[in-house]
Amino acid sequence: MDQDLTGGIAVLDFGGQYAHLICRRVRGLGVYAALLPHGTTLAELERAGVSGVILSGGPSSVYAPGAPHADPEIFGGKIPILGICYGYQLMVKAHGGEVAGAGRREYGRSRVRVTEAGGLFEGVDGGGLVAWMSHSDSATKIPPSMEVLAASDGSPYAAVRLSGGEQYGVQFHPEVSHTEKGERLLSNFVLGVCGAERKWSMRGFLQRSVEELSKLDGTVLCAVSGGVDSSVVAAILSKAVGARLRCVFIDTGLLREGEKEKVQGVLGRDLGLRVTFIDASDRFLGALEGVADPEEKRRAVGKTFADVFEEFAREEGPFVHLAQGTLYPDVIESGRSTGPAAVIKTHHNVGGLPPGLSMRTVEPLRELYKDEVRELGGLLGLPESALKRHPFPGPGLAVRVLGEVTAEKLGVCRGASRIVEEVLEEDGAYSEAWQAFAYVGDDKVTGVLGDERRYGFQVVVKVVESVDGMTADWSRLDLGTLEKISTRITNEVQGVVAVAYNLSSKPPATIEPQ
Ligand code: XMP
Repeated sequence: MDQDLTGGIAVLDFGGQYAHLICRRVRGLGVYAALLPHGTTLAELERAGVSGVILSGGPSSVYAPGAPHADPEIFGGKIPILGICYGYQLMVKAHGGEVAGAGRREYGRSRVRVTEAGGLFEGVDGGGLVAWMSHSDSATKIPPSMEVLAASDGSPYAAVRLSGGEQYGVQFHPEVSHTEKGERLLSNFVLGVCGAERKWSMRGFLQRSVEELSKLDGTVLCAVSGGVDSSVVAAILSKAVGARLRCVFIDTGLLREGEKEKVQGVLGRDLGLRVTFIDASDRFLGALEGVADPEEKRRAVGKTFADVFEEFAREEGPFVHLAQGTLYPDVIESGRSTGPAAVIKTHHNVGGLPPGLSMRTVEPLRELYKDEVRELGGLLGLPESALKRHPFPGPGLAVRVLGEVTAEKLGVCRGASRIVEEVLEEDGAYSEAWQAFAYVGDDKVTGVLGDERRYGFQVVVKVVESVDGMTADWSRLDLGTLEKISTRITNEVQGVVAVAYNLSSKPPATIEPQ
């Protein structure tokens, strides 16, 4: 490792789902942060010039065979450390404390009482905080060299500090948006304890990216979907390589209503990009015929997408590079990170290219989260209407139609989702929601139409709030809004007799139903 991270923060990756999110939060404070392999040594960190180190969470148990460990030298006091969850447990173990499987697992919200105000908890202490926990192991005995700063019902040692040193540990996750004052806590560590330098900005990122991308030789092919990510990728590449960029829009038949027209407007008219439209919906529906397993559906969509792409590239090419709008959450959830993360879902836009494809992948946004991409899009001149659009998954409606994907269920899902979006817009609730859609499966419920009993679909409406898609909470919509949605769906969408509202947060659920 020979990166220059002078004045920045190193986040060591122990495989936690939120490891990169810590970097994102630190960057949000204006400080550069890099995610590094967990085995990075003290000597390497010192050479890189970091101001401090954060140890991420992770899925292992610290005593398990093969569990990832840090270089023991880093705990020697030369460098400030904040250990989070698993990283905290490693720190406790390194200083002679004990960690064990907790009798009680703590997942989701927990109230944390601050017992030692100031320092790490400066500005956070009044009344404690509600923190996001996600652990089954806990520190059961802390060494005499550590003092307790905070406790929760499930964790008597929810936060600790090495006496007289600059090492801190927290059992909860200050980096997730659902931990109250988590940003303040991170800022107390990064700016207060470490004295890190504030020299990172999105404008600087844009400038560096354009400089880097302009070194690409030859032509670049970019798939655009109408979503924020691919639009921003196309815009940044157009700035970097100009006319050597060619955009293609593949209609998978699994998109939201009116997607093609939106792309024509924003990319074609507003940004003046050259976009080719391909209708491949029959091929996608054919590939999904008889497929009910969610992972198989994702793979079928991914493979068909790659095939259509490859054919286009062969006919219209040669293209040297293939640009994709992969974001960091896609990378981490597909287990393609620097550390030992567990795979949650296979994302079709990550690593799904066939071996025959002879283009090199360019992923200008792979370090970023959605809110950062929106900020970048604003700097690139994308219209507000395009930037505020809700995210839409690569496999499209295939993951919102449960069971086999049929034309009938697709119609129900698309029509009901359009109504959800329209009502939220009307009631001024669209922008507050991270995503808002309807999904449908094969279950039929009984309804009455006139005097007749009739089996029909039950559609589930899902509206969630989130900052980055990593954690999410269901939206407490106004009852009048919910009523409007329900009435319009049963009146306007053929075959639907009932509407339900999903009340699950992430975790434990994921945002997409599949
Ligand atoms: P989950 O369902 O994993 O979703 O909580 C988190 C965010 O990612 C989006 N998502 C995807 N995006 N390809 C994508 O480009 C995918 O395969 C995919 N699966 C989920 C989802 O819509 C949410 O915003």
